[in-house]
Amino acid sequence: MASLGIGIIGTGRIAHQHLRSLKDFAPGRVVSVMDVLQDRAEAVAAEFGIPNIDTSVEGLLQRPEVGAVIVSTPPVAHHGPVMAALEAGKHVLCEKPFSLNLDEAKEMTAKAEAVGRHLAVCSARFRCSKAAQEAYQRVQTGELGTVYHIRSSSFRQRGRPGLDFWPDAPWFLDKSKAGGGTLMDLGVYQIDQMMWYLGYPKVKSVTATTFHGVGKSAPEGVTYDVEDHANVMIVTEGGASAFLEIGWSTNMSGASGLFIWGDKAGLKFDPLTMISEPLEENKLTETALLGDEEKGPGPYGDVTQQFVRAVVEGREPWTPAREALVVTQIMDAAYRSAESGGSVELF
Ligand SMILES: NC(=O)c1ccc[n+]([C@@H]2O[C@H](COP(=O)([O-])OP(=O)(O)OC[C@H]3O[C@@H](n4cnc5c(N)ncnc54)[C@H](O)[C@@H]3O)[C@@H](O)[C@H]2O)c1
Repeated sequence: MASLGIGIIGTGRIAHQHLRSLKDFAPGRVVSVMDVLQDRAEAVAAEFGIPNIDTSVEGLLQRPEVGAVIVSTPPVAHHGPVMAALEAGKHVLCEKPFSLNLDEAKEMTAKAEAVGRHLAVCSARFRCSKAAQEAYQRVQTGELGTVYHIRSSSFRQRGRPGLDFWPDAPWFLDKSKAGGGTLMDLGVYQIDQMMWYLGYPKVKSVTATTFHGVGKSAPEGVTYDVEDHANVMIVTEGGASAFLEIGWSTNMSGASGLFIWGDKAGLKFDPLTMISEPLEENKLTETALLGDEEKGPGPYGDVTQQFVRAVVEGREPWTPAREALVVTQIMDAAYRSAESGGSVELF
């Protein structure tokens, strides 16, 4: 198998995760890194034995040995490097959320199509676990029958990046840099996973509410204008629904989970369990499909290796831009719905 040369733009926290994934991974090798904070690029190059450090995006993209680029900057700095990388003929893995806003997502998707390069987004992380894969197979083979509703709920108690942890990354709290709060940061994973199970159908309408103001406020001088909590109801063309609840600062426990309703059987996670016939005294049978220890690579599953393998083997990587664009459309509609207090129709 050919080895893909990779350049990394933005060498902060998540870049370390990409670098760990690619360490000793034969299909891909990191050939250069770049960060606006040069000392960060130098530190990772030394730690991971990377042969080159570039001081500009253009410099990194000029390297013929770079076949693909990982863009792991904050959302405000996704669009520029992604467009430049595609223009330079590179395949791109972009960190989530795809973009700061819908217009940027549309432009990047159109550019990838125009230049014929893969553009994938890390919102696929929740597809990677063994349980997520097993559930997908059960849905695909029709064991659940028609899937008509999915609920994904995920709550932290005090888990706001930039405030409750990582105080050196306050951009997570600033709408102009992050695009939004918990929905942009974590809801992207849940939306992608639910839409994947539903087969990425057309979305008919989105209705949402958001809330800001649980827990301590930000220190003086830190902009904190994003939501802590979002509820999003998605209705698809065929009438199936997906409901997302997400909160990174809540006064709650035990309310998280992922549930899939089909007309033949249902699935619940952690551990993955099928709920189906036969009936006994009006109660369905519950069958454990995987043990707790078999979850696989976990919530931050290996999208990096998945991307590299797909590019090398000529397959479409997860989450392709056209699907990431749908996730962005849903989030954009959710924010508009929350602001207006009404439902947003998408077609
Ligand atoms: N930290 C995580 O656990 C995590 C997990 C999943 C996804 N992500 C996503 O990854 C992205 C980066 O997050 P992070 O936590 O690594 O942030 P971070 O602040 O730790 O690192 C971002 C890096 O990008 C650099 N940078 C900023 N603008 C740049 C530009 N124009 N060109 C080159 N470098 C630039 C910064 O100097 C910094 O080193 C975000 O989109 C985030 O949502 C982060």
